[in-house]
Amino acid sequence: MRFPLAEAINPNPFERNNTMEVIVCKNYDEVSAKSAEIVAAVIKAKPNGVLGLATGSTPEGMYAKLVEMNKKGEIDFSGITTVNLDEYYPISPENDQSYRYFMNKNLFDHVNIDKAKTNVPNGAAPDGDAEAARYEAYVRSLGGADIQVLGIGRNGHIAFNEPDTELVPVTHVTSLTEDTIDANARFFASAADVPTHALTMGMGTILSAKKIIILANGKNKHDAVMQMLKGTVTTSCPASFLNLHDDVILVCDEACYNG
Ligand code: F6R
Repeated sequence: MRFPLAEAINPNPFERNNTMEVIVCKNYDEVSAKSAEIVAAVIKAKPNGVLGLATGSTPEGMYAKLVEMNKKGEIDFSGITTVNLDEYYPISPENDQSYRYFMNKNLFDHVNIDKAKTNVPNGAAPDGDAEAARYEAYVRSLGGADIQVLGIGRNGHIAFNEPDTELVPVTHVTSLTEDTIDANARFFASAADVPTHALTMGMGTILSAKKIIILANGKNKHDAVMQMLKGTVTTSCPASFLNLHDDVILVCDEACYNG
């Protein structure tokens, strides 16, 4: 199902609402297929392009589809550069809970990408602030991502930009909220093992992407997605900042959309 946001959510939409496209899929498999198709189109159109990538459980199916497409020879990663949104801090890239490890396992180890062109903030950097500044300058030097893939937290967070009274525009070190530590505890032995800090792109870094695709799956993302789709901007829902961008596609399943 595909329709403009204006009809779906708000009978009197703010003008900019019309710029966010909403694709509601039957289930997770369709979310994965549809989002992989959108990313693949960018790879085909710009074989030396820059992909902004996310970790988390939601994009795993999309990565599996991209791997399949690459194996069939439908897409070529050889000229592609990638920039990931975030990484725990501090964490070793070899730690199986690091986002670097996740990306290798879910995508980079299975496609014909040049690993030297894959970028994840360095969780092992001795100085987090210096690493954040280096990463921000690097992403900006690329001119931003050609497409940025995002997930969304239950509380509306994007990357590790958590709801707060203020948001930081650039890549920075941040502390994680209780809610995010809880949500991520499933990947660790216990909540106490989840790192308390992260390196994350800021909302400005994310908005520097030319195109953004945000994936959401399941009923527990309904409230955050609806807050984003209202079309207003509030730091209590970082995802709402995507309303400032002209080319955003939400790909979600019916459970997420209908609540
Ligand atoms: C991941 C990231 C996070 C996730 C979000 C949703 O790089 O930045 O913001 O996108 O926490 O996670 P899942 O997909 O596991 O529900």
